[in-house]
Amino acid sequence: MATKKIDTTLVSAGRSKRYTQGSVNSVIQRASSLVFDTVADKKRATAGRAKGELFYGRRGTLTHFSLQDAMTELEGGAGCVLYPCGAAAVANAILSFVAAGDHVLMSGAVYEPTQDFCTKILSKLQVTTTFFDHCIGSEISALVQPNTRVVFLESPASITMEVQDIPAIVAAVRSKAPDAIIMLDNTWAAGVLFNALEHGVDISIQAGTKYLIGHSDAMIGTAVANARCWDQLRENSYLMGQMVDADTAYMASRGLRTLGTRLRQHEESGLQVAEWLAARPEVARVNHPALAQCKGHEFWQRDFTGSSGLFSFILHEKLSSEQLAHYLDGFHHFSMAYSWGGYESLILANQPEELAEIRPAGGVDFTGTLVRLHIGLEHVADLIEDLQAGFERLKR
Ligand SMILES: Cc1ncc(COP(=O)(O)O)c(C=O)c1O
Repeated sequence: MATKKIDTTLVSAGRSKRYTQGSVNSVIQRASSLVFDTVADKKRATAGRAKGELFYGRRGTLTHFSLQDAMTELEGGAGCVLYPCGAAAVANAILSFVAAGDHVLMSGAVYEPTQDFCTKILSKLQVTTTFFDHCIGSEISALVQPNTRVVFLESPASITMEVQDIPAIVAAVRSKAPDAIIMLDNTWAAGVLFNALEHGVDISIQAGTKYLIGHSDAMIGTAVANARCWDQLRENSYLMGQMVDADTAYMASRGLRTLGTRLRQHEESGLQVAEWLAARPEVARVNHPALAQCKGHEFWQRDFTGSSGLFSFILHEKLSSEQLAHYLDGFHHFSMAYSWGGYESLILANQPEELAEIRPAGGVDFTGTLVRLHIGLEHVADLIEDLQAGFERLKR
């Protein structure tokens, strides 16, 4: 789990006097125009517009700079770009580095819209994509082409939760294509439980919509880049008009202050529920990175400092549509909703054939219905009681 050092960083990062101006939190500076008193001031702002000088709203205000500084410190990068949502962060980070004729290598188990961005948008720009088996490890080197420009990872995988051997993938890619940019969707670890840049990744992307915001009431994306990618990511994202409003940036900063504590509770309750599920006769497998039965558990154990609240489990049985509706409709504490990372518990289910469709590099290895849970901050006994009642419903 988060070290004391990270807890302290979460509380203090981005709170310099310039940003707080005497209050505890950063000020909310809403602005398009930023006014220069003199020609000399305007010149200074123009020269320093990419380095934290107030220049124009699209380059950010004090509120944005505060969050960007905090994220940069948290993830150990050279800088952080803010986007209006996680999908924008993914798309614009990739777009910032590819040109016609380039090739993208992408795990076949990333968030579905990330895959769709490649197959539906990049394909129109003559950028090709190869999807690889998520658990590939160093064998990825066989897939690296001379024109491979971006390698895109997400660990744990979306929905099925397999953990990747990121150091092995990074080493293999670097040995074949040292200039390729390695990006990771690091949302599950919230930038706290896995330090992507320390593990050789160039750009760590988060749907801040999830744990940074933490209350399911706003959307934001972040991308923290290392020194070799920072200028290009920042300038290209700026040219593509990527920015978020000051109020949302403020909400993300505020979310950071409680992130360590929230994550610890998500982890503790999530583990209790996962272990309880693993002992249930209805359950074939629990895909929780901290459990030995989860694929890639050994990489989680080696590389991560803890777990968050999102995982899935697979039933022995494939439920009919009617059974599934009866099961899902009856929960009291688990709502059905896309997204995750808020304080509330959520549930969604997928049939194996639906998941096979979004696994372009190899399908799935199970036949039962998969249920994905986000374990929120309710009392864990209430959550387990609710899940127990769900299994009882399946018997009727
Ligand atoms: C892993 C992951 N990445 C990216 C996104 C996209 O984030 P947003 O909904 O903020 O666009 C999501 C959304 O569910 C996600 O789960």
